[in-house]
Amino acid sequence: MRLNGRTAIITGAARGLGRAISETFAAHGADLVLIDIAHDLAGVPYPLGSRTQLARTAKTCEKHDSAVIAIESDIRNLDSVTSAVSQALDRFGTVDILVNCAGIAAPSGTVVHEITEEEWSLMLDVDLTGSWRMTRAVAPTMIAQRSGSIINVSSTAGLVGYRHFAGYVAAKHGLIGLTKAAALDYAPFRVRVNTVCPGSVRDAPEFEGRMLAEIARSLEISVAGHEEIFTQSQPTNTLMEPSDVAEAALWLAGDESRQVTGSVLTVDGGFTAR
Ligand SMILES: NC(=O)c1ccc[n+]([C@@H]2O[C@H](COP(=O)([O-])OP(=O)(O)OC[C@H]3O[C@@H](n4cnc5c(N)ncnc54)[C@H](O)[C@@H]3O)[C@@H](O)[C@H]2O)c1
Repeated sequence: MRLNGRTAIITGAARGLGRAISETFAAHGADLVLIDIAHDLAGVPYPLGSRTQLARTAKTCEKHDSAVIAIESDIRNLDSVTSAVSQALDRFGTVDILVNCAGIAAPSGTVVHEITEEEWSLMLDVDLTGSWRMTRAVAPTMIAQRSGSIINVSSTAGLVGYRHFAGYVAAKHGLIGLTKAAALDYAPFRVRVNTVCPGSVRDAPEFEGRMLAEIARSLEISVAGHEEIFTQSQPTNTLMEPSDVAEAALWLAGDESRQVTGSVLTVDGGFTAR
C-alpha cells in the first residue's frame, strides 16, 4: 500500500497504460481522479477511449476500495482541465500525484514536409501542451502543500527519431524538456517532475489498449504481424507489458523515489541503449 492516503489524477485513464497505472495505484491505496476525453477526436484516424471504457476502469479500481471519480475532460481545453482539477479538489481536498498519460499516435505516417498545419497542431496540442495544461492546473496546490509528484508519459520517441512520425517524436521530445524545466521550477517546493519512456507495449486485451497497432499502421508496418515485428527490434526480444510501465510510474509516484526529479526512466527493454 505504497500510496495509501494519496490522491492521484491520471489522464488517458479509459484504457491502455492509463488504465494499467490507475489499477496499480488503486491496488496501492490511492484515491483516484480518472480523466479521459471519452470520445473520438476529429483528425485522429482511430477510435479513442470511450465513456464505457472510462467507467470500466473506475469500476475495477473501486474493487480495490479506492475512492474514484471519473471525469470526461479534453486536455486540449484549459477550462475543461481547470474544472476537472477543481472537481478533484472539491472531492479529495488535495492532489498528490499527477500522471500525464493521455496521448494520441496519429495523425502521422507522412514525411515532415507533408504534415499539414492542422495535423502538426493537433499532435502537439494533445501530446505536449495537454501535459503542460494539466501541470499548470495542479502545480499551485502541490506548491502550497510543499509536496507532489508529476509523471509525464513520454516514449522512446522522446529519445530517438522514427521515420514518418515527426509530430509524435517532436511532442515526446518536448515532454522531456518540459519535465526537466518544471523539475527545476518546482524543486524548491519539493514537487518532483519525472518522465517515463515506454518502449513498444503489448496491446493487452484486459486494458483494451490499441496504440501499438495504431503506431504500426502509421509506420506502414503490417498490422497483422506487428507484435512480432516490434518484438524482433527489441534487444530483449520481448514487448513491454502495461504492468511494466505501471510499476515504474508507481515508483516515481511514491516516497521511494524522493530524491528523483527531472529524470527520464526508460522502460524499453534496452531499445534506446544501442
Ligand atoms: N502503447 C505503447 O506502445 C506506448 C509506447 C510509448 C509511449 N506510449 C504513450 O503512453 C500513453 C498512453 O498510451 P496507450 O498505449 O495507453 O494509448 P491508448 O490510445 O490506448 O490510450 C490513450 C488514452 O488517452 C485518451 N486521450 C487521447 N486524447 C485525449 C485528450 N485530448 N484528452 C483526454 N484524453 C485523451 C484516449 O481517449 C485514450 O483513452 C500515450 O501518451 C502514449 O504516447 C505508449
